[in-house]
Amino acid sequence: MCGIFCFSSNEEINSNTGVNGLKKLEYRGYDSFGAFQINNNKENLTKEIGEVEKFSFPEEIKTKYFLSHTRWATHGKVTKENSHPHLSNDSNIIIVHNGIIENFQELKDSLVYKGYKFKSQTDTEVISNLIQEELTTQNNFLQATNKVCKKITGRYSFVAFNVKTKEMIGVRNGSPLIVGKKGNSIFISSDAPAFFDITNTVSYIDDGQIAYINQKLNQNCIFYKLNSLEEIYKKEIKLEIENQKIHKKNFKHYMLKEIMEQKHTIKRAIETNKEAITKLANLINKKKKVYFIGCGTSAFVGQSSKYIFHDIANLKTDFEISSEFKSIQNFIDKDTIVIGLSQSGETIDTIEALEIAKSKGATTACIVNNENSTMFRICDTAIPVKAGTEIAVASTKSTTSKMAILILTAYSCINKQKIGFNELIRNQALINDMLNPGFEEHIIKIAKKFFHHKHMFVIGKGYNFTVALEGALKIKELSYINTQAFQAGELKHGSIALIEKGTPVIAIAPNDCNQNDVLTSAHEIKSRGGVIIGLSENKSEVFDEFIKVPNCKEGNLMAYTIPLQIFSYHLANFNKFNPDKPRNLAKSVTVK
Ligand code: F6R
Repeated sequence: MCGIFCFSSNEEINSNTGVNGLKKLEYRGYDSFGAFQINNNKENLTKEIGEVEKFSFPEEIKTKYFLSHTRWATHGKVTKENSHPHLSNDSNIIIVHNGIIENFQELKDSLVYKGYKFKSQTDTEVISNLIQEELTTQNNFLQATNKVCKKITGRYSFVAFNVKTKEMIGVRNGSPLIVGKKGNSIFISSDAPAFFDITNTVSYIDDGQIAYINQKLNQNCIFYKLNSLEEIYKKEIKLEIENQKIHKKNFKHYMLKEIMEQKHTIKRAIETNKEAITKLANLINKKKKVYFIGCGTSAFVGQSSKYIFHDIANLKTDFEISSEFKSIQNFIDKDTIVIGLSQSGETIDTIEALEIAKSKGATTACIVNNENSTMFRICDTAIPVKAGTEIAVASTKSTTSKMAILILTAYSCINKQKIGFNELIRNQALINDMLNPGFEEHIIKIAKKFFHHKHMFVIGKGYNFTVALEGALKIKELSYINTQAFQAGELKHGSIALIEKGTPVIAIAPNDCNQNDVLTSAHEIKSRGGVIIGLSENKSEVFDEFIKVPNCKEGNLMAYTIPLQIFSYHLANFNKFNPDKPRNLAKSVTVK
């Protein structure tokens, strides 16, 4: 994970331009941050714990060279010493890094043997010192950096700066890195929106490529292949930035704003994607094996596809958690389609699984919210979720949009796209009505009664089990309440032992073929002291609390997910946790 924002310019730029860029990357991690710059010929290193959001330099500070980083800790605790940038022992090489250097320990040991001292526990510090070591035998910074890349293993990107020569190098080998240009000012960032206030002219660095900037020679950015150092041409692209400017509007948090945007995002997801969905459905119909993959919330959407395609299209599809995909790779071949689900399009576990699928000759597709992402570019077919940028770390609107796209794809597989489309438009209207202020007020009252609990359970059956899984994840990650999801019928086979007087259990009980089973389980839990929070179309006598959800048929997947998002958001508020930035998390998980 981690966010990188750097620039090299032939004229001085206000340092807060760099800080503002870095603030846009906080979604990639917010354990600590740091920056390196040269002001009035003096090197200046800043490192702080926590979020960069409230930080700024004094207004008069300007620089031509700026490297900054927001960290999600992988190696070493959250301390100032472990924050980036990391300097070589001679303080000449400055590094900011995203990703993991897998063989860092053996490289570190060999450097320590040569007398190098390490200030941090990070894997990053080996890069700066390895470059220093290379430069003892040659003068060429580009070649030295390239040589170091041959020694390090793992998926990473980094920016290296040579203080003496003022050369800056960006390397991409598995984690995203994008170059932005304005005149002779070159920006290198983990994501393009970080420099959208300055420029929308970008070049994507691909894996195995280097961006090289030497302002002293008045050079623009030159691109090379890693290893061979063959110069390459990179297209400059003008990105659309109009709809990238994001505000909280009148909402207290981005999360609540994004939840409420589900009044219209489902419609947008299907309206703009009819042709792409038909194409995906045709591919699914042609293939013998269909795998959905994803992580976290996106994994639960993937898991729900099993029920969606079963119920609507009578089609068998499989699901695998992206990080486990390697273990089932022997089943993947040219008769397979592997469909990645992702909000960010940068989740490394899903990218790696798609790469494995490609290497086995499978067709790859993805349903992704971030259209500028790696997944979007590497898959044979890509469907944009069109939910708009999601800022809150916990996924909300992109989740229900992905569900809508899957439902419509299933209808398209049986040539009933129009019926599916109309059904989803009807769902959108019902969800719009549901999301009224009274509905939220009612959920706030329930959250107030339960926010102090240490444990909760969520039960569902069939596709509603995946709603339960998603609800439990939301409650865990936002309010840190230990919450487990169960198939309603499964609890009695052991886990019901955990129920005691007052244990809150959320029952997902829409009026479908599974309702009776869910209500029976709720009765069994209640007999043992559990308190039932029922989500259904109609109140049942077994419910102690009741949240009314409209009947959206297959669209219940979306309709029942939303109240659980609202509930977990308010559990976080009552517990005084920031729902936009839960502890230990990051929005884009670019490390394994
Ligand atoms: C939970 C959440 C995460 C992500 C997961 C995958 O609210 O947001 O579980 O769903 O990290 O991320 P994407 O969807 O970007 O691949």
